[in-house]
This record gives sequence, C-alpha cells and structure tokens, in this order.
Amino acid sequence: MPQTQLTLMLIVGVVAMVLVPGTIEATFASSQRNPIGRERGNVLKNITGTQEYENHIVTSQLDASEPVRMMYRGIREVYNRLLGPTGMRDEGVSLQARVPPHVPFPCDVRGYRSSPVPRSVHQLRPGDFDVVAALGDSLTSATGANSRQFWELLIDNRGLSWCIGGQGNWRTHLTLPNILKEFNPRLFGYSFADSYNVHLPSQFNVAEIIATTSDMPYNAASLVERMKSDPRYGDLKANAALHLNRVLRFLQRNDFICRVNWKNHWKLLTIMIGGNDFCSDVCFQTNATEWINRDQEKYLLTTLHYLKKTMPRTLVNLVPSPLINLSFSIDKVQAPLTCQFVRPIECSCLYGPKYSARRNLYRQLERRFVQIMERVSHRPEFHSDEFTVVYQPFYRDASVFYRRDGKPDLSIMAIDCVHLSQKGHAVSANGLWNNMLEPTRHKTTALRELFEEFRCPTPQNPYIKTYYNS
Ligand SMILES: *[C@@H]1O[C@H](CO)[C@@H](O)[C@H](O)[C@H]1NC(C)=O
Ligand SMILES: *[C@@H]1O[C@H](CO)[C@@H](O)[C@H](O)[C@H]1NC(C)=O
Ligand SMILES: *[C@@H]1O[C@H](CO)[C@@H](O)[C@H](O)[C@H]1NC(C)=O
Repeated sequence: MPQTQLTLMLIVGVVAMVLVPGTIEATFASSQRNPIGRERGNVLKNITGTQEYENHIVTSQLDASEPVRMMYRGIREVYNRLLGPTGMRDEGVSLQARVPPHVPFPCDVRGYRSSPVPRSVHQLRPGDFDVVAALGDSLTSATGANSRQFWELLIDNRGLSWCIGGQGNWRTHLTLPNILKEFNPRLFGYSFADSYNVHLPSQFNVAEIIATTSDMPYNAASLVERMKSDPRYGDLKANAALHLNRVLRFLQRNDFICRVNWKNHWKLLTIMIGGNDFCSDVCFQTNATEWINRDQEKYLLTTLHYLKKTMPRTLVNLVPSPLINLSFSIDKVQAPLTCQFVRPIECSCLYGPKYSARRNLYRQLERRFVQIMERVSHRPEFHSDEFTVVYQPFYRDASVFYRRDGKPDLSIMAIDCVHLSQKGHAVSANGLWNNMLEPTRHKTTALRELFEEFRCPTPQNPYIKTYYNS
C-alpha cells in the first residue's frame, strides 16, 4: 500500500510540474544566474507599485544580495515617490535655454541613415544607430540634475542624462539621443523619465550612483542581459497569462520578439567612469599608486574584452570622468553653503579633512588614470569591423565656465557642486557629439558653452569618427 501511495505521489508531482509552468523553473532556479524573484519579497515595491524592469536583473553587486536589495530599493522607491520627481521642471538658471521653434536643427539630417545597413563600424552615419546604451555612475544617471534642495540630490533625472537621456527633444534637453533621434526617429534604449536603474523608464541606462571602475565588468554583464531580454511587447508581456508569458519568454530568448536585434542593430554604448574611484575609493587603498596602475587598467580591460566578445555591431565611446577636474575648478570659488555641507559626504577622499594632505597626489593619480583609459582604447584587440572603442576626451580638461568679469559661473553644476545640472548635461551632450565627429588627433578636450560649436556630418565627412577612418 505505501508503495502505491508513493507512486501516486510521484505521478501527481510530475504531472504538476509539467502542467504548472514555473514549478520546473522554480525547481531548477538555483542553476540560473541571478535567480531572483522580486515578487517573493519586496513589500515596499508592492506598496509603491513602481514599475520595474525584469525582476531578475540586478544592476550592481550590492543589489545582488536579497536583503540589501529589499531595503535599498524599497527606501529609494519611497524616497523617490515622496520627494520626486524633479525632472519635469522647466525653469531655472541651471537649465539650458529653450531653443524656439523657428530655429531649425543645426544640421541637415537627410541622407545620414545608410541604406543598405553598413557592415563596418567605421562607416556609420549618425542615423545608423538603432540602439543606445550606457554604463557609468551618478553623472550618467543624471543624479540631482534638476535638484533645488539638497534632499532632492538622490533623485535620478535619467531622462536628462547627457549620453543616454531622451526626455523631451534637443530644444528642451540637449542629449546625445535627442540629437541622434533627429537622424533616426526610431532610435531606442534611452531613458525617458526620472527613474532608478531597475525601473522601466531607465531603459538601457544601467549607470548606478557611486559605481567605480571595479563595478564595470558586473554592470556590463547586467546591461547585456537586459538588452537581450528586452521584450518588444512590454505591455502585452506584463498582462499576459502565465502560459503566454512562458511562450513569450521562450521566443524572446530566441530573438524572435526581442526589441534589440542583437546581430543586426547598430549599438552605441557610452562608458564614462572613474570619478568615484577618486572620490570614495582611493583614500582606502594601502598603496594608491599601485592600485591605479594595476587594478584599474585590469577592470577596464576585462569590461572591454567582455563587450567585444558579447556585443556585435557596437561602437563604444570611452569617456574620462570630469568630476575631479571640475571639483578643482570650483575650489577657486567661494562655494555655496550646500556644497560645503554635501561635498565631504559625496566625495570624502577629496573633501574629507582627514585626507586633505593627499589631495594633490590623488589628483595626479586621476590624471594618470585618464591616460590609462586612453591607452587602453588604442589596443588593437578592441577594433574590428563589428566593434570599436573610441576615447572621447571632451571632459578631460573640464572646468566650470567663467563670466566676462572673471567670476565663475556655477550654472553647469547641480546644487552640490559635484554633479552636473541639466545645463551641464546639455553642454556635455554637445561636447560628446562634437567629439564623435572630430578626427582622432583633433578632438576638443574641454567643455564649451552650449551651441558655441555644434558639429555636423557633411557629404565629404559623413561618418562617426573612429581610429580607422580619422
Ligand atoms: C507583491 O505583489 C505580487 C503581485 O501582485 C504578489 O504575487 C506578491 O505576493 C506580493 N509580495 C508581497 C511580499 O506582498
Ligand atoms: C607602492 O607600490 C609601488 C609599486 O609597487 C612601490 O614602488 C611603492 O614603493 C609603494 N609605495 C608605498 C608607500 O608602499
Ligand atoms: C583641468 O585639467 C587640465 C589638464 O590637466 C588643466 O590644464 C586645467 O587647468 C584643469 N582645470 C582645472 C580647473 O583644474
């Protein structure tokens, strides 16, 4: 008798596993990468009802621990709801001046999407990019860009981000995607509203506050996972019945209905990193010099090797962080009270009194890191017809602007004097765009006033510049 019962239970068990999709997945979940079902735990997410990206995709190493994730995401979501959003503000000195409707877009956009689709990354016109993506830190998540109060500094205005924001258009928010959209209106991947990196509006912007170079290999893998599993029919998927959902997932994994056509779409990925290495990490190293020379380069190489191996048809913009140079340029200013209060917290290695004697050493090391970044970008293994890396130095010598009377103008900075304001993001987008059209040895290395110079492709020079077509 017990034997029959056992057999019966086994049969019922097997039938249940087959009939109830998900049982199988749950049973074998531990063999998958990041097997995290957010529904199981996060009460705060349920209360706030925030729409998140794929539940199982976590974007920082810290976030991978479930208790930390619950607390961290929960607190940020509640915070965001209570104090945000700030991204829709449309007046203030630290916002770009709106371009009136009668002013045309500075470039002729016709003829800058190729047909047929180019086969070489060295023959891309601005309209040939189908997808944009970004890796980085709080300068890429546009943290605090529209803040007016210091408690708003924790809101990520991702829609305004220089290299990956796509809120509004170039007249209201100059960003790289808003420029590229003029050439290819079907571009996607850009962030379109205030959000944290796990929220849907963040899209292919996996930048995370306080990220350092050592986080890049992990974040690159998260980005790839997110891009590869991004559903074409987001709403359908959200509402689909369980079974349909599985079918959709299966199809997605097999590229049928994934929004990104992995092999054929041209992807533009901007990586800007390094600021936090010098704000938050360098002062904890026992031998900072050795750390810069050995570890930092290794992380960059690992990230780029992974991307080269994983992402076909990709152009990578490798951008040094302006954070340190900008901070030093503000030193000449009687910094506002908020800055004096916030800077030692946000950038303790440079502004913490304990380390003031080492500031100049850290600054030298930062300059060294920028050189390492440039050198890495030139390594031959990162260049093929399908993939290339271009070092874009417009941030290298960044400083705040100075008025005619010699007084500094802090309008490109957020109220903490560490992050960029919306105007700062617009100025940066302008700089990156110009760099992308400037040949290798003639790239601008500092920030210019908005629209002071706005480069355009021409019939003689239609391509985005790489090391091989400059
Ligand atoms: C959160 O919501 C989901 C879907 O509505 C539900 O399945 C889950 O049990 C909830 N989790 C908690 C902890 O309340
Ligand atoms: C740091 O490391 C470098 C290279 O390994 C070495 O030359 C230097 O003496 C070290 N500095 C300190 C303070 O230990
Ligand atoms: C920024 O860096 C450049 C190059 O190292 C330097 O010439 C410039 O003076 C720096 N600006 C400030 C304000 O430190």
